Amino acid sequence: MTATQDLETATGLPTRDGEPLIRMRQLRKVYRKKSGGKTQEFLAVSDVSMDIHAGDMVSLVGPSGCGKSTLLKIFAGLHGHDGGELRIGAPGGTSFNPGRNVGMVFQQPVLLKWRTILENVMLPADILGLDRKKARVRAHELLEMVGLTGFGDKRPYELSGGMQQRAAIARALIHDPKLVLMDEPFGALDALTREKMNLEMLRIWRETGKTFVVVTHSIQEAVFLGSHCAVLTAGPARMADFFPIELPNPRSLHVKTSAEFGVYVRRVYDLLGVE
Ligand SMILES: Nc1ncnc2c1ncn2[C@@H]1O[C@H](COP(=O)(O)OP(=O)(O)O)[C@@H](O)[C@H]1O
Ligand SMILES: [Mg+2]
Repeated sequence: MTATQDLETATGLPTRDGEPLIRMRQLRKVYRKKSGGKTQEFLAVSDVSMDIHAGDMVSLVGPSGCGKSTLLKIFAGLHGHDGGELRIGAPGGTSFNPGRNVGMVFQQPVLLKWRTILENVMLPADILGLDRKKARVRAHELLEMVGLTGFGDKRPYELSGGMQQRAAIARALIHDPKLVLMDEPFGALDALTREKMNLEMLRIWRETGKTFVVVTHSIQEAVFLGSHCAVLTAGPARMADFFPIELPNPRSLHVKTSAEFGVYVRRVYDLLGVE
């Protein structure tokens, strides 16, 4: 057994053998805007390298405007990149179709108000043309998993913000994606609901075994959620550090009062230059 495997066993993390699901080296992204016949360039990501393995829960933390959403959009296939190397997909280069293999959760739940919660959860399956009967069964299972049993027939406005966001998480999982990308998913929630959602998310991560990348600008949230933490500097994004978080799994909120938790939080503050 290697030292990393020892560590993974000790912390209850999945092993990270073999090829990563996402491999990035010196990734670079330039936004271009045409104005008055001239093209203006804006460097959003300058140098980001990391390996994300299947089953990881990577928290991506950095100051506002540093390029976190840009990176997620690149992973989701919504943006290309302008330099460096990026490989996403199964080992051996099996083709990776982002529409089929990525689930996304945004800061706002963005549910369609004229659809019921169940129909909202089924939306990606409808778009992808998946079997509706199977999708309906799966949607009920997912609603149960996110604690919304019995709410499938409600409309979004009948649910609280936290419940709507849980429906959005169920929707992100309906087509059984390999990769779940979350962009500040709990930013709009009150502090207590946010902590509860953090616990829910860790449970869903454990139960599904999927690969999650979650963007946050909360350092505490990044440390609490991550099996690994990627720290980005102020824009253009450069990787300040990428490290495993060796806190016990499954995690309870008590871990936040532990000395080890404080050490990780301090480490991220130091990397971001916060005194
Ligand atoms: N479509 C775009 N065109 C031009 N600039 C953009 C675009 N999207 C984002 N930016 C700029 O790129 C930088 C990084 O943005 P973003 O990835 O949204 O940061 P974050 O999610 O970390 O707050 C910001 O300065 C932002 O203004
Ligand atoms: Mg953002």
